[in-house]
Amino acid sequence: MIYHIPWLHTPVRTVLAIWHQLTKSEIPELAKGSVLMRERRRVEETIHAMKQAGAGSLQVISDFDMTLTRFSHDGKRVPTTHNILENRLLMNEDSTKKMRDLLNTYYPIEIDASRSIEEKLPLMVEWWTKVHELLIQQRIRKDMLAQAVKVSGTMLRDDCRLLFDRLAEQQVPLLIFSAGVGDVLEEVIQQNHVFHSNVHIISNYMDFDHTGVLQAFKGQLIHTYNKREGAVHAAGLRALQGRPNVLLLGDSLGDLTMADGVSQPHNILTIGFLNDQVEERKESYVNAFDIVLVKDETMDIPNAILSHITSSRKKQ
Ligand code: TMP
Ligand code: MG
Repeated sequence: MIYHIPWLHTPVRTVLAIWHQLTKSEIPELAKGSVLMRERRRVEETIHAMKQAGAGSLQVISDFDMTLTRFSHDGKRVPTTHNILENRLLMNEDSTKKMRDLLNTYYPIEIDASRSIEEKLPLMVEWWTKVHELLIQQRIRKDMLAQAVKVSGTMLRDDCRLLFDRLAEQQVPLLIFSAGVGDVLEEVIQQNHVFHSNVHIISNYMDFDHTGVLQAFKGQLIHTYNKREGAVHAAGLRALQGRPNVLLLGDSLGDLTMADGVSQPHNILTIGFLNDQVEERKESYVNAFDIVLVKDETMDIPNAILSHITSSRKKQ
């Protein structure tokens, strides 16, 4: 329709045509009320460029807790991988309470829009260190993890399985980069039948002794605000080589550094789930992520974008 307005000069017509294509027909989901964009045009151009390059140039980098998993369900918080361990199968009541108290102290700091990341950094290290020490003291048993996940009520975001399946089908690598607990994360995706061969995970992994009892955590601690360091390490993964286009998904401002290791990126599109403290954090999220999804418990937008990028290219 836009093509038939004769008095519009060409650049305006072109922009309107792209906008029309993306919002009105090809990605109608972007017009949802929960979608915020600082620069809609940049988003459109990036998606367009990614589609031109095709699935073979793409990698997806995603956070796990509260990004691939839901934030809440039926008014109740959905457990994170750490929360899943707060179970009498694995820990005594006193330690479970201590872990909850730590969460109630430090999570508000993690998401506090009035504090700088520099200010939060040592507090996050403090939180993760205390929790990991507590877990080691509790002598967590490897053979109980599957059962703890089963009864936990953990849930992937609606239609998240579709995202996993489509990426596997298109052979697009999915790098899950989590400050949660890797062993628990693997169990969650295993039980959802989506631990496909294109999935790569960077997380805090447990180190069990020969009897299957937790004795330490492996490697360098990953918390919400030091993902940049792990990102550089992850960039060495062979599966990610030659894929300069990145779709990044996260729920924390710290997640934005997950693509910092990608060498010579061409296009990076960042999507941020703004789960809570919406009014306080909206501005900082809109300034930081290309697309912000407000209280959206579905994978509709990433799925729609992916489906668009990976569908066959039209002749120019
Ligand atoms: P993510 O990087 O996969 O999102 O995992 C980090 C989240 O885990 C972070 O947002 C806070 C959460 N967390 C807990 O829920 N309980 C804990 O004890 C800790 C240390 C973190
Ligand atoms: Mg998260």
